[in-house]
Amino acid sequence: MINKFDDITKETMLSLEKTQRDFWNISRATAEFLYISIIEHGAKNVLEVGTSNGYSGLWLSKALKVTGGHLTTIEYYPKRQNIAIENFTKCGTIDVVTPLIGSACDVLRELPEDAKFDFVFVDANKRESIDYFNLIHPHLVKGGIYTCDNVLSHQEKVQPFIDAINAHPDYENVVLQLPAGLSFARKIR
Ligand SMILES: C[S@@+](CC[C@H](N)C(=O)[O-])C[C@H]1O[C@@H](n2cnc3c(N)ncnc32)[C@H](O)[C@@H]1O
Repeated sequence: MINKFDDITKETMLSLEKTQRDFWNISRATAEFLYISIIEHGAKNVLEVGTSNGYSGLWLSKALKVTGGHLTTIEYYPKRQNIAIENFTKCGTIDVVTPLIGSACDVLRELPEDAKFDFVFVDANKRESIDYFNLIHPHLVKGGIYTCDNVLSHQEKVQPFIDAINAHPDYENVVLQLPAGLSFARKIR
C-alpha cells in the first residue's frame, strides 16, 4: 500500500481487496505496478477497459492525481459502474474520472477520431482482447503504453492478442510475471 495515501483510500482499498474474487479485481501487486508505471511515464490520458467496482481504477486515478491526468474507464454493467463511482467519490478521484457505460467494443468504436491516450489498461472480456487492441491502436500515441491483464491466467483466450501485438512492427512487448500475467507494451512508432 502506498504510504502517502489518505486513510479513507487505504481503508477502501483494503475493504475492496476482501471481495476481490467477487469483482474479479487485479492483484495488489499489479495495481501497485500500474500506479508506479503511470507516474514514471508521466501519463496524462489513461484508458481502462473493465471498471468493475473501481478497484484498479482507484489506483489508476490516484496515480493521475499525481501526474495531473485523467482516466476514462469503460464498464458494461451499470450496477458495477455505480459502485465504482461511489468508490472514486469516497476516495476523492471522481473529478479525474470519466466512467463510460456499454459494451467495450461499441464504446471504443464511438470514440472521437482525435481521442488520444498515452496509457491503456485492458481487463474486460478476455476473448475480446484482440478486438480492444485493434480498436485502441489508432488512439494510442507514439511512446504510449498498452497493458493487458490475465495473459498467463487466461492464456488461451488472450493468445490472439499476444500474437498480434508481438507481430506488430509498432510495438515492443513483454509479459510480466505478475499474479495473472501482465502484457506491458510500448508503442515505438
Ligand atoms: C476483471 S473485471 C475488471 C476488474 C477491474 N479492472 C479491477 O481490477 O478492479 C472485468 C470487468 O469488465 C466488464 N466487462 C466484461 N466484458 C465487457 C465488455 N464487453 N464491455 C465492457 N465491460 C465488460 C465486466 O462486467 C467486469 O466488471
